[in-house]
Amino acid sequence: MKIIYHKSLLLMTSVIISSTLVAIAVSSCNFNNTNTNAMASNATVSTQPFGMVDGKAITEYTLKNAAGMQVGIINYGGALTKIITQAKDSSFGDVITGFKSINGFTQSGNPYFGALIGRYANRIAKGTYKVDGVEYHAALNNNGQSLHGGLKGFDKVVWEAKVLPGDSSIQLNYVSKDGEEGYPGNLSVQVVYTLTAHNSIQIEYTAKTDKTTVINLTNHAYFNLSAGKSATIHDHVLQILASEYTPVNEVLIPTGEILNVSGTPFDFNQPKRIGNDIDKVPGGYDHNWILTKATGLQEVANVYDPLSGRVLLVATTEPGLQFYSGNFLDGTLTDTKNDTKYILHGALTLETQHYPDAPNQSRFPSTLLKPGEVYRQTTVYSFSIK
Ligand code: GLA
Repeated sequence: MKIIYHKSLLLMTSVIISSTLVAIAVSSCNFNNTNTNAMASNATVSTQPFGMVDGKAITEYTLKNAAGMQVGIINYGGALTKIITQAKDSSFGDVITGFKSINGFTQSGNPYFGALIGRYANRIAKGTYKVDGVEYHAALNNNGQSLHGGLKGFDKVVWEAKVLPGDSSIQLNYVSKDGEEGYPGNLSVQVVYTLTAHNSIQIEYTAKTDKTTVINLTNHAYFNLSAGKSATIHDHVLQILASEYTPVNEVLIPTGEILNVSGTPFDFNQPKRIGNDIDKVPGGYDHNWILTKATGLQEVANVYDPLSGRVLLVATTEPGLQFYSGNFLDGTLTDTKNDTKYILHGALTLETQHYPDAPNQSRFPSTLLKPGEVYRQTTVYSFSIK
């Protein structure tokens, strides 16, 4: 797999995204067109009731583009419910893990399938950190650490959702109150999911606070590009364009070191079958790779499934990428789509984010957000076949 090929794909993706955004802007002159107008990108949206949580109706929004790709999103946790893409044999299949109904998503032990994660994706050591000299305690939910926003993170709240003009984007809003899960400041978060005409899902996050706080947002989709044909992702071929990673201790908190991947199982600079070295990493991969320092939207990783021919390209504005090889999947989740047993290494995540425990690590890029500033992150997952 040649990097140059991906660079051009990325360029294509950005061109497509820009034209989609222009199309959205143009069509937004006509606000009467919501659910039926397919003009801009030939996309359509359908909605389906998906149960109730906290007394609020949950809806599944399904975006479909002219190429036949589909993306499902629910306003519970802002979770992706399905991503249906074409394989090299022309069949369509769902490449993410998920559940049949809301009961699946709300079950205890749902490992964040498809969800939006916040306020702080990944771990904060002992949930303790300081902002402006004041100590805060985020809720502990993982071996005495705070993981993915605490007990009721953004993955477990009901977001306000609406279809944007053009029918290729869903906008989600959530206001996290001052003190929620131990984080300061009222934080207004907006996430826009867009399905482009050329099979990319763009996720744009913005947030504002009224008190200085910490923030680290991501999406926790688990991919298995075989769409149910392979029980594990061992045969997927992964490339991560990163020469360093942050090693972790036994409770998965970074030690603070920044190590070179060269000569280690963490080196994915050349595309590598995931199963090749996974046994050399105790517990499997669950680490943060340090992405190159270039600014703007950049290609950072790609995955290829030789069986289906599907390729997933990941581009982001974030400085880190958590590659997690589904080490805690053990086949016990219920209400799964097609009753699939999601077993050990049954799917992988590529979570674009800031580094774990950054609030306690002075060498890591800052995750502080101050009043008057706008937090922004953009990530694009693009699908193709080869
Ligand atoms: C993240 C973490 C993993 C695990 C999963 C959810 O990817 O890094 O350790 O907690 O979420 O199971």
